[in-house]
Parts: sequence; structure tokens; C-alpha cells
Amino acid sequence: MTKRSNDLQAVIDAAQAAFAARATDPTSQDCQSRAFAALADAHGPSDLTGERLPVCDRWLPTVLDKAGYPEDLRRLIEAFRAVEPAVRWQRRGGPTPSASHDFAEGHANAVLFGANGIEPRNDVWLGASLLAPGVRYPDHTHPPEEVYLVLGPGQFSQENGPWFEPGLGGTFYNRPGILHAMQATSEPLFAFWLLRADPT
Ligand SMILES: [Fe+2]
Repeated sequence: MTKRSNDLQAVIDAAQAAFAARATDPTSQDCQSRAFAALADAHGPSDLTGERLPVCDRWLPTVLDKAGYPEDLRRLIEAFRAVEPAVRWQRRGGPTPSASHDFAEGHANAVLFGANGIEPRNDVWLGASLLAPGVRYPDHTHPPEEVYLVLGPGQFSQENGPWFEPGLGGTFYNRPGILHAMQATSEPLFAFWLLRADPT
């Protein structure tokens, strides 16, 4: 069996506890339990090296050093901080007609588990998005179902519906293929997402 670093396993443990405690609707719970069951099987490590984007240097300390996280979210933040140097932060590719003009420079995605992640795999994705204040992420869809865990201010939309704000520790579920988007308000947006690629 492939060995996974203790730091990376700590991210899974912290994320599993936080998602389980906060995303309590049955659909989210079902998605999570299948995702974390799959993550119990460690895959080989990546040979990618970590690399930040400028938006990370500008806004990640604001998010990670912020006071007031409840204990379970602080544990997740600190577990993330420990592995963050190994993250190759990525910009979203593809068309962005509904994004704000500053989207390209104003966002970054951290894939911990998943394609081009610290632990590359295609059955489960676990990672986080960082948006600078005022940045709107484009409407997008993807086949896997998804649960978001939001770590602070920020707004979200599903199927072109009204913006809603889950708030610190808030969660919501995206069914497979649903159109969704997010936008930061006057503070940076930071949210974790968990996707399970095969919902059978
Ligand atoms: Fe998504």
C-alpha cells in the first residue's frame, strides 16, 4: 500500500471531521462518506513541486492568520498550512465570460487530492479556492457532485439563482452537472471543496 505523509493524512482527518460536523444534510453526508472512504486508499505522491501565484502571497496570510476560527476549522486551516508549500496553485483555464475583469490575477486553486494535486488521483478531489476581494469566479459545471465548506465571507450561486452567503463554516451541495459560481465581497473568499467523481 502506498504511503502517505502524516501531514497529508492530517488534512484528510481534519477535513473529514469538519465536513461531517457541518455538512449535515443527507445528500452531503452521502457524498462525503463515499469520498472519504475512497481517500482511505492512498495513491502515489506527485513529482510536482509547490508553486504559489501572486494572489496567494497577497491574500493567503489574511485567510490563514485570521483569528476566530472555531476549533475544527482552525485544525483544518493549520493542516492546510502545513502542506501548502507542496501545493502547485493553479488558475482556472477555459472561457470565463461571466468572471470579473480581475479574475485571472485574482484567484488561485489549490488541489490537494486530484489532478495535478499533491496526491494525484481522479476518483476524489479535495482542495480549496482563494479569491481576492471583489473577484467573481465564472459560472462553471463539472460532472462530479461536490460539497463546499466555506471558511469566511463570500457569496455563491447555483443555476443562476440569487447569491447566498453560507458564512464561516457554512456548507452547500452541488449535484452533478449543476451550474454554479462564487464571488468575494470586500474580503478574500476561501473555501474548501470535495468532489466525488463516481457517485455510484
Ligand atoms: Fe465546483
